[in-house]
Amino acid sequence: MKRTDYLVIGSGIAGLTYALKMAARFPDRTVTVVTKAAADETNTKYAQGGVAGVTDFENDSFDKHINDTLVAGDGLCNPQIVEIVVKEGVERIREMIAWGAQFDKDADGDYSLGREGGHSEFRILHHKDVTGKEMERVLLEKIGSYPNIEFVKHWFVIDLITQHHLGYLVTKSTPDIECYGVYALNTHTNQIETILAGSTLLATGGNGQVYRSTTNPAIATGDGVAMLYRAKGRIENMEFIQFHPTALYEPGVGGQAFLITEAVRGDGGILRNKKGEAFMAAYDERRDLAPRDIVARAIDSEMKIGGTEYVYLDCRHMNREKFIHHFPNIFEKCLSIGIDVSQHMIPVAPAAHYSCGGIKTDEWGRTSIRNLYAAGECASTGLHGANRLASNSLLEAMVFGNRAFEKAAEATGTIIAAERVPDWNTAGTTDPHEMILITQSLKELQLLMSDYVGIVRTNTRLERAMKRLDLLWSEAEQLYEASTVSPQLGELRNMITVAYLIVKGAQFRKESRGLHFNTDYPDKSPLLQNIVL
Ligand code: FAD
Ligand code: SIN
Repeated sequence: MKRTDYLVIGSGIAGLTYALKMAARFPDRTVTVVTKAAADETNTKYAQGGVAGVTDFENDSFDKHINDTLVAGDGLCNPQIVEIVVKEGVERIREMIAWGAQFDKDADGDYSLGREGGHSEFRILHHKDVTGKEMERVLLEKIGSYPNIEFVKHWFVIDLITQHHLGYLVTKSTPDIECYGVYALNTHTNQIETILAGSTLLATGGNGQVYRSTTNPAIATGDGVAMLYRAKGRIENMEFIQFHPTALYEPGVGGQAFLITEAVRGDGGILRNKKGEAFMAAYDERRDLAPRDIVARAIDSEMKIGGTEYVYLDCRHMNREKFIHHFPNIFEKCLSIGIDVSQHMIPVAPAAHYSCGGIKTDEWGRTSIRNLYAAGECASTGLHGANRLASNSLLEAMVFGNRAFEKAAEATGTIIAAERVPDWNTAGTTDPHEMILITQSLKELQLLMSDYVGIVRTNTRLERAMKRLDLLWSEAEQLYEASTVSPQLGELRNMITVAYLIVKGAQFRKESRGLHFNTDYPDKSPLLQNIVL
């Protein structure tokens, strides 16, 4: 049993921002950061393009960034949250620079700003094409200097502890569900530990692994969303899954797809179909730099017309030296599979990339459960609406990591008496004998989500998906009841829950808006609705 004042689940940009601030504010209190993987194995580490923020006030303005975010969000952003993130984001960027983040500069010493889809100005700060890695490095270095931060790696958080575990009946209508901490599997000892906390932050990241092809690493299994849903908290807008238009197409290579950052199109890269035609002008006047939902659908349509599994990103006309300077990681990766970007076009296809919905929070990162906050990709703050503007998520994670810290610092709950919380009950369970039962279910899940709940949806596909999910769910539950918990089984269960929430949200939304496109309801409804589950 562990006790801590402030518990943070997740060591990406949202969790670490919160932890640093809290540790600095209260040197005499403990902050415990738990992650199920290595410290830096996060979506954050893979961020390429950069972080959007207004730093060039001669050409850019808060109003322009706000407007671009609202346009991309297709009517569903919360304007108050957009303004908060755009304005406070700049303070967070300055702070990150003060902590040591190196963003690229031009020959005059000014920040070299990139541009991506949906941005009307050049406003994206970046570190080559490995911005997230740089930000994660800075945060982890800084974390090391706080003795009151305990960093717990390779512990898989299974569930939130609420009144339910004290023997009360908790339903969605219970007015004051409270969080007392979590149960977590220590994968070094295989013991399930109880961690009690005055205040808990979920910063568990995204859920791209629910799909067969994703830019997200293996950790992105939607655990926080699933845990909160099981604890009867509120989740919203899960149907808005963003597919990145340009993941590298590598036949036969499974797992995480390598991203070709949108910044490549910002620097002049052109999408072409199999005939070599630049097709984006036929879909949107902003062509290759239209918002992501539009570009991903256009690619999907060109792939269907041409009967191909990819289109091309043409960079042959771009200056080779400049390309290597800005995108060294992409240049090397392409070269490693025989593609010299100055001579060959890059085969690309859309891949699941970002979850715009998630755990519903207010403007301070508070969830619907007391003493429980959420920040980063697992949260739904109202910033992204129906479609996230490129490079707004690192910004949002910093702003809400900070806001959640501010509120949690003001209102720390008391840590519940340990004797009231039972240990995790393993009675009647045994080690799973057949891992195939888990791995095969996962494959089925990823396949059905990609085939039926991808970029273009229909009522029939969604119905099919739901039927198959029902079966997968009941099989996984049987296994869960009988087996000792493993991260693989816990993640499978979480991913099925998240898939259910995506499909349910998609079925409730009887319109096409932003990232959700259903051919049975091709138009936008005049009603602006957030779907809360
Ligand atoms: P993460 O960084 O994903 O961290 C999640 C943490 O939670 C991890 O430490 C994980 O181990 C932990 N965790 C999860 N479940 C559990 C559990 N059950 N128990 C214990 N620990 C758990 N955004 C931009 O703004 N600009 C970009 O250029 C950009 N490029 C991107 C490129 C790629 C390839 C990807 C995948 C994403 C990109 N994004 C970008 C999105 C952005 O990187 C993420 O949205 C953001 O980093 C999420 O940060 P986070 O702190 O919320 O979560
Ligand atoms: C990219 O670099 O294209 C990803 C940016 C993002 O997801 O915000």
